[in-house]
Amino acid sequence: MPEHPITVVGASGYLGRYIVAELDARGHRVRAVVRDLTRSAQPGPHGSPALCGAGTELVRADVTVPGQVTGLLDGSRRVFSALGVTRQKASPWDVDFRANLTILREAERIGVESMLYVGVLGVERGTSLVARSKTAFAAALESSSVGGQIVNPSGYFSDMASYVTLARRGFVILPPDPDMRLNPIHGADLAAFCADLSGNQSVPHSIRVEVGGPDVLTAREISQLAADATGTRPHTLRIPRRLLNGAVWTATRISERHGNLARFFAEARTGDAVGRCTGTRHLSDWFQEIA
Ligand SMILES: NC(=O)c1ccc[n+]([C@@H]2O[C@H](COP(=O)([O-])OP(=O)(O)OC[C@H]3O[C@@H](n4cnc5c(N)ncnc54)[C@H](OP(=O)(O)O)[C@@H]3O)[C@@H](O)[C@H]2O)c1
Repeated sequence: MPEHPITVVGASGYLGRYIVAELDARGHRVRAVVRDLTRSAQPGPHGSPALCGAGTELVRADVTVPGQVTGLLDGSRRVFSALGVTRQKASPWDVDFRANLTILREAERIGVESMLYVGVLGVERGTSLVARSKTAFAAALESSSVGGQIVNPSGYFSDMASYVTLARRGFVILPPDPDMRLNPIHGADLAAFCADLSGNQSVPHSIRVEVGGPDVLTAREISQLAADATGTRPHTLRIPRRLLNGAVWTATRISERHGNLARFFAEARTGDAVGRCTGTRHLSDWFQEIA
């Protein structure tokens, strides 16, 4: 077993769990940083694995507290970050930008060789605080002495689960442009891509990659896959653009956090989100599994 642990932050999330499992399966020592040891030792959301590999050490820390990041990376040459706000009640600026930056500064201090950071495909065109926080961190990583691998994926399978949930209830919701294309990716396929990229000695000091799963699908096709998997014929509700804009306006009045999330989701449903096709897992099979 190699002597240097690979540190993974955001290890308890959907993607982070797959990254830890992939590195562990490849025989690496993994230091998985989590804020809840008990929850992390249990299976995660959408079938993601428990953090219980033989080479995995669970370390409890709140990475939004700078004092708890000091020493966290000691001995590591490589760091992975799948850290970011999705459903959590926190400011994306504090987590996606500040906490990732604190980790990067610690990585610089101890001379870590590379940090692989998972962002979102197309995020640099976004105006929400989530988008601006991720873009600001990616810029900091690109100008760092630590080698930066920025992986910007299309939607995860976990994010597509709502199509199945809604189809079971008899309806599906389509974005204003139902022909927008994306290639959703399974967490295990994305984790394998990240592990390959980080372990590849020939990648440049700083690299940015847009990636997605093996199938490029329109939103309309995804809703049909959900209907097929559930054996239903759901009603289709297409959200008009002005309604989406109205939802962002309303959410902004509820709270800054709601407004930012609504803006992020609205922008994510505008235009294609297709990355380099990778992986072997198909959304149609996954829908059958979860239906
Ligand atoms: N879901 C998608 O379709 C999708 C698509 C493209 C890119 N991405 C990006 O990929 C990354 C990982 O996504 P995911 O779906 O795996 O998200 P996730 O399941 O919510 O995991 C996010 C990770 O960040 C941690 N985190 C969040 N807020 C925190 C806070 N305030 N303090 C400390 N830790 C915090 C979580 O810890 P806890 O488990 O303790 O909450 C978890 O480990 C995110 O940056 C996301 O934006 C997601």
